[in-house]
Amino acid sequence: MTQHPRIILLGVPGSGKGTQGALIAKTFGIPTFSSGEYFRNLRREGRLPAEISAKINAGGLVSDEDVNVIVVESFLSTQEAQAGFVLDGYPRTVAQAAFLDDYLTKQSLGLTAAVYVELPMDTAFRRISGRRICPNDGSVYNVYFQPPQREGRCDLCGATLIQREDDRDESVRTRMATYEAITKALIGYYGDQGKLVIVNGMQTPDAVFAEMRRALDDQA
Ligand code: AP5
Ligand code: MG
Repeated sequence: MTQHPRIILLGVPGSGKGTQGALIAKTFGIPTFSSGEYFRNLRREGRLPAEISAKINAGGLVSDEDVNVIVVESFLSTQEAQAGFVLDGYPRTVAQAAFLDDYLTKQSLGLTAAVYVELPMDTAFRRISGRRICPNDGSVYNVYFQPPQREGRCDLCGATLIQREDDRDESVRTRMATYEAITKALIGYYGDQGKLVIVNGMQTPDAVFAEMRRALDDQA
């Protein structure tokens, strides 16, 4: 793979973007930025504006203007992002993708790849229903697939695990519908640019990662 990879992760909610983002970051020594995680951190600190919080809980999208500013100011313009990065959950609309292209082009940079983690919706739904997170450090578990060592407790800090507020069935259905109606168009967008890498999400996290790694190596 290229020396300073700039990768974005696409996929239906629950497809494993966060899981793969963490593996890529650890293996290649590059930072990962999740726009969803950014909002959840703000909420933990009591700094998430009420209208944004309500929108996320209902499964809708935060406005392109707000997200574009946040991603640039909080991540893309920082020193740590200069050696390459993984973006998880951004861009999520064609307008955000065009903004990102424009931002990178102005610095004579471009994306290395848009990795699409393909997973059927029913499997994604089940993974989300089993997901538990640590309210303290954000670690992610799954009661079916990646259970913590002690039931209901974070392996790292021992806190009681909780469900994400947008992981209730009704919000998940809206998130899936939003993905279908708006975000899915990015597969064609990056396909047209020759940047799309498709991996099968219906495998263990390590197997998904290995397939992604081979595909990125082939692409280089
Ligand atoms: P975000 O946090 O990005 O949520 P999402 O896209 O719905 O995706 P998830 O985090 O639910 O799933 P994931 O693909 O990361 O899967 P994970 O690895 O956790 O966004 C939340 C909200 O913020 C949005 O709805 C929106 O409101 C707002 N927002 C964020 N970005 C925005 C933007 N750019 N524009 C506008 N609004 C924005 O895995 C899921 C579960 O499965 C876990 O329990 C995991 O342990 C398990 N698992 C993972 N991989 C496997 C595997 N291979 N096998 C078995 N289990 C697995
Ligand atoms: Mg995620």
